[in-house]
Amino acid sequence: MASDSSPKPAARKQAKDLRSARWFGPADLRSFGHRSRAMQMGYSPEEWQGKPIIAIVNTWSDLQPCHAHFKTRVEDVKRGILMAGGFPVELPALSVSESYVKPTTMMYRNMLAMETEELLRSHPVDGAVLMGGCDKTTPGLLLGATSMNIPAIFVPAGPMLRGNFQGKYLGSGSDSWKYWDELRAGKITEEDWHGVEGGIARSYGTCMTMGTASTMTAIAEAAGMVLPGGSSIPAADSGHIRLASESGRRIVEMVWEDLTPQKIQTRPAFENAIAVAMAMGCSTNAIIHLIAMARRAGQDIGLDDFERASRKVPVIGNVRPSGTAYLMEDFFYAGGIRGLMDRIRQHLRLDCLTVSGKTLGENIEGAKVFNDDVIRTTDNPIYGEGSLAVLKGNLAPDGCVIKPAAMDQRFLKHSGPALVFDDYPSMKKAVDDENLDITADHVLVLRNAGPQGGPGMPEWGMLPMPKKLLKEGHRDMLRLSDARMSGTSYGACVLHVAPESYIGGPLALLKTGDIVSIDVAARSIRMEVSDEELARRRAEWVPPPVRFERGYGWVFTKHIQQASEGCDFDFLRTDFGAPVSEPVI
Ligand code: FES
Ligand code: MG
Repeated sequence: MASDSSPKPAARKQAKDLRSARWFGPADLRSFGHRSRAMQMGYSPEEWQGKPIIAIVNTWSDLQPCHAHFKTRVEDVKRGILMAGGFPVELPALSVSESYVKPTTMMYRNMLAMETEELLRSHPVDGAVLMGGCDKTTPGLLLGATSMNIPAIFVPAGPMLRGNFQGKYLGSGSDSWKYWDELRAGKITEEDWHGVEGGIARSYGTCMTMGTASTMTAIAEAAGMVLPGGSSIPAADSGHIRLASESGRRIVEMVWEDLTPQKIQTRPAFENAIAVAMAMGCSTNAIIHLIAMARRAGQDIGLDDFERASRKVPVIGNVRPSGTAYLMEDFFYAGGIRGLMDRIRQHLRLDCLTVSGKTLGENIEGAKVFNDDVIRTTDNPIYGEGSLAVLKGNLAPDGCVIKPAAMDQRFLKHSGPALVFDDYPSMKKAVDDENLDITADHVLVLRNAGPQGGPGMPEWGMLPMPKKLLKEGHRDMLRLSDARMSGTSYGACVLHVAPESYIGGPLALLKTGDIVSIDVAARSIRMEVSDEELARRRAEWVPPPVRFERGYGWVFTKHIQQASEGCDFDFLRTDFGAPVSEPVI
């Protein structure tokens, strides 16, 4: 393994050097106000004086089922903080529920990131425990904490228990799509469908397939921001309570050690995150979030880093939808992420520092795998190489993404006529028409679904299979859009086309009947239209009308970057302008 180049924590801090001491320490009128208001809440000075004040950024809400347990789990975090001699303060933040927030949570990831950064900046806190897990909350919290750069530790919500329907396991998302198609094909009854509805989400916690939530929490751990093994523990397991308390104890020490995110989130740490994402058979969303996270930490990670890792690291986590049968609960019993990381240790930089205060290599020391079918060996993988592929060509000059590990392999090389839709409602109506003029060789295309066009890249990318084809027995076809898709989705879906059609990317010029060709082995995607014809179409192209003239939507569309750049706001990037200073107190 490469030499130890990771930064080490500085010497221990003194109480007088705590950030919060600027609020509480001075013998002046302003500090008098801070102290008297703490006493107003019933705290005696002995409870906070000279102690690290720890913010617990909690993304609980009554409309966030994946974080329902955070309402009480936060007390376990507080217990840990108090035990270690810290002073806990809970700061609620936007809960960004994947299930309820419309038009898409991706509109609000950056808002949570800004909220987290500014919550930490504006309050008298020395460190932070970040409580998240439902898809966008993990990157949202981490982006903000990275930019603020005070010691921070992430507590993942943990996956929910396996779903159950008539004694069969159900997987979040994946089985909704599967049984919905079966219902539309007339293979199951309405009653069955209601059974699936009641059984698919049996406990609090995040989706228990390898969706965006499980991918992102694994990434957070691989990048060093979660205590060892923490990202695999099911939400309803008592081990999760212990993780919460332990994270509370640990953050207090991290403050004394001044172990900040910037010291942990080095380029090799992000390369580890990418390798683990590949080995887990990750959600395509991981690409966007990881690029944004790395860039906030000042590391220039791009699509090519994913492409390189994908060619090296096989998928060994046998968790649906890339895997065949298992769910996150099985993955935990099989040895969890420590077991998985141990199996790909040759692809990891083991000298990276983590929130445990130890290196990644030390964190996985002694890890074991208890079920070789759930966590495979690298010579018996679920998918050998290229579980995710980045394609480029005249349809997507800045790249697009496909997930070969979770699709019908006959579409890896395919040419077919495009059937193009400009908006989701008209496409949805058309696919339900049993007389639609379409074959399984067609390429179903949706545009205006990108970062600005969606807006926010809704998870529309697994375009619904046309009813006519379902009845003919087809379950997959080539689909293409500038949208994202849920990590629990599957199918031959080309996603994240950049630049997006709404701002005039070449996808805007495609017409129904044009031949679209993809060749995953060659990493290419093309529309078979001459350059002259494309130039003619470009001259005729009329930009769509502006969608937002005020409010957050306006800020969003003015400043959102393309998928290939991580969809961060341009003004939040680390290299944008001068650093933000500490507030005047
Ligand atoms: Fe929250 Fe899937 S809906 S993790
Ligand atoms: Mg999801």
